[in-house]
Amino acid sequence: MAKGYRIAVIPGDGIGEEVAPEGCRVLRAIEQVAGDFHLHFEEYPWGSEYYLRHGRLMPEDALKTLEGYDAIYFGAVGMPGTVPDHVTLWGLLLPIRKGFEQYVNVRPTRLLPGLVGPLRNKGPEDIDFVCVRENTEGEYSGVGGRVHGGKPYEVALQTSVFTRQAVERVIRFSFELARKRSRKKLSSVTKSNACQYTMVLWDEIFSELAAEYPDVQTEKWHVDAMAARFITHPETLDVVVASNLFADILTDLGGALQGSLGMAPSANLNPERRWPSMFEPVHGSAPDIAGKGIANPIAMIWSGALMLEFLGEEHSADLIMSAIERVTAGGKTLTPDVGGTSKTTEVAEAIIREIHELPA
Ligand code: NAI
Ligand code: MG
Repeated sequence: MAKGYRIAVIPGDGIGEEVAPEGCRVLRAIEQVAGDFHLHFEEYPWGSEYYLRHGRLMPEDALKTLEGYDAIYFGAVGMPGTVPDHVTLWGLLLPIRKGFEQYVNVRPTRLLPGLVGPLRNKGPEDIDFVCVRENTEGEYSGVGGRVHGGKPYEVALQTSVFTRQAVERVIRFSFELARKRSRKKLSSVTKSNACQYTMVLWDEIFSELAAEYPDVQTEKWHVDAMAARFITHPETLDVVVASNLFADILTDLGGALQGSLGMAPSANLNPERRWPSMFEPVHGSAPDIAGKGIANPIAMIWSGALMLEFLGEEHSADLIMSAIERVTAGGKTLTPDVGGTSKTTEVAEAIIREIHELPA
């Protein structure tokens, strides 16, 4: 009997609603070509529209609903101007990441063939690394408060929380990942000169674990210097591990190195598979281009490949990647953000055509 995977699809807002259906179409195509597994999609209309009608981004029992799925395929959330960004993020995405202990967020950063990145003299062979983001705590722990609202002496606190357990598990994951790659190099990013408690703990745990992985070359960078290094020496990077905030910032920079944020995929993993993992593009709902049909669907489609890989369908994941690369290398069917004139649907269709043409 063919294997079956239950996928909860949450398109969300803005271009999330435009790229998610294209991602699902590509997954349908690969299911057809592979022929030995089934994908059962169920879509949930959660997000800002839902909030405007129900006063919540998702139902109270949403995590109970999602619990039974093999994976979650997520678009983007955010309707700035109508719903405050902290409400949308804390109402939907962060509860899923935290509630399902998706403690690593893996973000491949590769300039695909045929695309011209923003760096002079740096091509696809120079930009090929993976960022690993701590995904449950750190600067996004949600600990803090505000007092004396509106007064001249108003105070806001946003406390970073770093626990040995969470730091250790994300760094260990990164060492394991680095060990599987050909260059076997792991760069740790902190700001332990200024943040003398939390990030010194991070540095210490990194050194402790490094002793267990003598085959992995290691280095430590402060985040400001690493930001510069992304631009000056991207070819020296292999696996980069950083806290929730730092990796959030660095991976938008990574998206820029890939030619567009519309190219950057991500996997929010619960490596123990106790809970479903979630796959989503790095980008947000892009209100500036939403509704025009020109959003780049590749980040979403690539995230679908990451989902298949995590589900154990590596061959199909590779097939999607080859199809994406053939389309970028061809240079004819690209959205405007990467220099083309094609529509979202046309790029997805070109990828589907390649899937059918590639030797299965
Ligand atoms: P954004 O990622 O939505 O957009 C930044 C820039 O990149 C925009 O110029 C946009 O047009 C471009 N861009 C992003 N994705 C693209 C794609 N697929 N194709 C072509 N161009 C693309 O970030 P921004 O503007 O800071 O946030 C917009 C909303 O999204 C806010 O409400 C924010 O809170 C939310 N957001 C949600 C995220 C999520 O759901 N994971 C992540 C980041 C932001
Ligand atoms: Mg971000």
